[in-house]
Amino acid sequence: MENHPLALPVGTTLDRFIKLKQDDFDFATGELSQLLRDIALAGKIVNREISRSGLMNIEGAFGSQNVQGEEQQKLDVIANIRFKRALKYGGEVCAIVSEEDEGIIDLNNPNSKYIVAIDPLDGSSNIDVNVSIGTIFSIYHRISEPGGEVTMEDVLQPGINQVAAGYLLYGSSNMLVYTTGKGATGFTYEPSLGEYFLSHQKITAPEGGNIYSINEGSYLSFEKPMVQFVEWCKEQKLTARYIGSLVADFHRNMLKGGIYIYPKTEKSPNGKLRLLYECNALAFIMEQAGGKASDGHQRIMEIKPTELHQRVPFYVGSKALVEKAESFERDKAVDLA
Ligand code: AHG
Ligand code: MN
Ligand code: MN
Repeated sequence: MENHPLALPVGTTLDRFIKLKQDDFDFATGELSQLLRDIALAGKIVNREISRSGLMNIEGAFGSQNVQGEEQQKLDVIANIRFKRALKYGGEVCAIVSEEDEGIIDLNNPNSKYIVAIDPLDGSSNIDVNVSIGTIFSIYHRISEPGGEVTMEDVLQPGINQVAAGYLLYGSSNMLVYTTGKGATGFTYEPSLGEYFLSHQKITAPEGGNIYSINEGSYLSFEKPMVQFVEWCKEQKLTARYIGSLVADFHRNMLKGGIYIYPKTEKSPNGKLRLLYECNALAFIMEQAGGKASDGHQRIMEIKPTELHQRVPFYVGSKALVEKAESFERDKAVDLA
């Protein structure tokens, strides 16, 4: 019954879903459930700011302050503030690693047991042109004893330690997709009711697919295996789709079948995307949907981070396509031997 598409009725709210699923965890105390609700609340606020961003610019012509009397700021700064505020006052999180902050952000909740890594606004180059953007988050248990200072060891955990992960997509509709390790589930926001409703129960990524997503503008600086893989995609007559917002490209490929790659390039020798707050969360979700995520050689979630803002090459999507891309990388290793 659990996996039946009609197991939960139409109109199940995120809150109700979280409450029902809380019982899946031994010794659940409700803290993780509260944390997910805090993220959803911040997601609603950020979604509102994004939808009004065009208007804010018009208002901005009259002065540089918004309706709350605050200086107008770039949306990725606003999103960072909103998520930090929601997580601080929600009380379940002791520290955050954010793309927008250099060091660990201590939230002054020393007894809380969760750590969050977050990309508050992903796809920032698309903000001003009304194209889909997102938020990505990973949730970990702290390793050190509550009460003390959060340590580097607490935040530099491999993706396999994630307790939950998810993303918000601010697209033609606003969605929240998350996993706690028992499948990936999607919710769609109903603005007039102010609620996320269950819309994608038990998401399954197709085994193969016909989409490849890569910034081919960097083709001349790809390494040989990547050039060969892209050629292979063309020979197979796959279709090219690249929004330039990781969350949006990822979401489409997970639902329709395809591969997203941000490889090593001359400009970015370790790739561009960040392990802690971009790749790990999406790797967890993709694996939960039956797909795969690697750096071309190694499973993303098994990489032990050494730095907060560490970058990795990122290959994610349908299993068959990720394995195909990895096979080109392996052949290179053989060539060199
Ligand atoms: P962010 O806006 O959080 O810095 O992330 C941008 C990322 C990602 O969303 C996207 O897939 C990638 O940058 C696009 O990079 P290129 O323009 O180099 O293709
Ligand atoms: Mn990003
Ligand atoms: Mn960002």
